[in-house]
Amino acid sequence: MFEATLNQRLQQQACSGLLRTRLIADEISAAYLTVDNKQYLNFASNDYLGIASDNTVEKLLSSDKHKHLSSGAMASPLVVGRHKIHQELEQLLLDWVDAPKSHDCLLFGSGYSANTGVISALFNQKNKDALLVQDKFNHASLMDVGRNSQALGHCRQLRFMHNDLASLASILTKAAHDKSASEMQNKLVVTEGVFSMDGDQPDLPPLTQITKANNAWFMLDDAHGIGVHGNRGCGSLSAQGIALSDCDILVITFGKAIGAQGAAVIATKQTIEYLTNFSRDYIYSTHLSPTQSAAAIANIKTIQADNWRREKLAENIEYFKNHMNHSKFTLTNSNSPIQPIIIGDETKAVQLSEQLKVNGVWASAMRYPTVAKQQARLRITISAAHSKQQLDQLIKQVSA
Ligand SMILES: Cc1ncc(COP(=O)(O)O)c(C=O)c1O
Repeated sequence: MFEATLNQRLQQQACSGLLRTRLIADEISAAYLTVDNKQYLNFASNDYLGIASDNTVEKLLSSDKHKHLSSGAMASPLVVGRHKIHQELEQLLLDWVDAPKSHDCLLFGSGYSANTGVISALFNQKNKDALLVQDKFNHASLMDVGRNSQALGHCRQLRFMHNDLASLASILTKAAHDKSASEMQNKLVVTEGVFSMDGDQPDLPPLTQITKANNAWFMLDDAHGIGVHGNRGCGSLSAQGIALSDCDILVITFGKAIGAQGAAVIATKQTIEYLTNFSRDYIYSTHLSPTQSAAAIANIKTIQADNWRREKLAENIEYFKNHMNHSKFTLTNSNSPIQPIIIGDETKAVQLSEQLKVNGVWASAMRYPTVAKQQARLRITISAAHSKQQLDQLIKQVSA
């Protein structure tokens, strides 16, 4: 039976310093975390703008407009229809990213589901001759669905070196000369606006040019760029001067800077109609809850209005980077709220994270398979909610 196998696998995880455990936090805010009655400074959340902590449910539901919202969506949007609040959120997102009239928006229950929903719909048994090209460091949701599609024979998946334009160009050029691949009608290049474990960003203008020159579509997962970068926080495309029409599929998630839950896909009306018909994640899942949609709407409006949050965040990131200069650890070239400290060895990364906890600082150790083996790291995240004193405390403890 399974018991022996499970036991063996768990023991292997523990011996390699890779065991994950769940815990209960009594309180979580962008700046603090309380576990077992001990308060820690929180440098692990994705609440980069401090919105999730500020816009509590009490505040959200106190508005008359939301008093009669149902707590759940009750079924798939194709079964009972979507609520007006879903439409309001879709329109708000389309306006925010300056989508042309030719575009539309589809909501998903999570970013994971949006990514798998898009890729598995584009690469399926009726559309097999296709090439999927992904940055090597793309999120697990993208890599897993690509791997599965390839295993099912629905596409060929190739990965380019992280943020390496020459590697991307070489893969696409090789594919054009390789007989089997050149016959492939459909090619999709996928990258992220801000990489979740490294905090760095791709150079989007040349990347989109290379993609276009090779007749491929371009998909951007902007989970960590939305809210933080671009005009009024509208994301990485705007920050790098790319028009939405140059991005064939944009994925936005609500669980990071937007401080809610769920995700959206923005693409041409034709693509959205296709996904409505063929994305199994969309068709066979209960729709995003109306209350989460209301939370996303309220938070996006706060993000658009509160420039000070982005300014404070940028100031905090700069402060952290400047003051960490004197520490024994080298930072990466990330200018985003994600500031990893690469440790390498898994056990050492966990030890450092545990040591920080003893001293009241919560920063998670990220290990294989979230990152490559021997690339374990402390994933420090900076928020606009942090004060200079809290950053000083972090810097002091990490440098000790
Ligand atoms: C780049 C990226 N895409 C997608 C996701 C998944 O989003 P969600 O947490 O909404 O499922 C994450 C979350 O960690 C992410 O970092």
